[in-house]
Amino acid sequence: MFKKILSFFVPVNLVRRDSHISQKLEVTLNNGKLVLDSKNTNYSYGSLQRILRKGLHYIGFDRIRKFEHVLVLGVAGGSVIKTLSDDIKYKGKITGVEIDPKVIELANTYFGLAEVRNCTIVIEDAFEFVLKAKEKYDLIIIDIFKDAEMPGFLFEEFWINSINALLNVNGFILFNTMTLNKDHKDRNLAYKAAFNSDYSVRMYPKVEDHNELFTIKKLR
Ligand SMILES: C[S@@+](CC[C@H](N)C(=O)[O-])C[C@H]1O[C@@H](n2cnc3c(N)ncnc32)[C@H](O)[C@@H]1O
Repeated sequence: MFKKILSFFVPVNLVRRDSHISQKLEVTLNNGKLVLDSKNTNYSYGSLQRILRKGLHYIGFDRIRKFEHVLVLGVAGGSVIKTLSDDIKYKGKITGVEIDPKVIELANTYFGLAEVRNCTIVIEDAFEFVLKAKEKYDLIIIDIFKDAEMPGFLFEEFWINSINALLNVNGFILFNTMTLNKDHKDRNLAYKAAFNSDYSVRMYPKVEDHNELFTIKKLR
């Protein structure tokens, strides 16, 4: 209780773990709420949860409730999974893919991820998972960061085509990106241009500071 009150004045660190993927993982109480951070950025809950919630809002909560299967690439503390289950009351299947087993340990211990009964977690590189995947999804949330860096494969044609092949018609991709400089902005414009007229692509710049969200609907 004391730590919770203190956290309204200064962030109170509860756990620190080394991770070869994210360099450092920290669970911190901030204004009475738990957040998961990597060395240089917020990974889960806090601003990250607000950003993805906005993306889901753009797609439409009513529409999402009718989806059958959601794929989350990059799970961390699982805040978007909690938004889906607790706020949106989504009851369909969720598959979460996360490369770092240490974040899943923290997600289960501190953020109650294991309590989400309709969610299955796969510990694997999302790139490998997508290569082998056979199922189709109605919503694919791409939120992959290594600390503050976005791996280059996320913007390559091969990955874009592989993800598109896993998406049902009328399904959506929600892609969270970070744009810190002009190169990143150009990279995102090139990403948008990679989709043909079978897709409706929307960009939401400056969702919070440096985040730019994409929603992409498969029309046919
Ligand atoms: C911003 S966090 C995800 C936050 C999460 N979507 C949420 O709702 O709380 C980014 C995550 O991507 C994971 N990641 C990085 N590279 C990955 C990869 N190649 N495959 C799967 N996960 C990866 C990191 O370990 C980290 O947990």
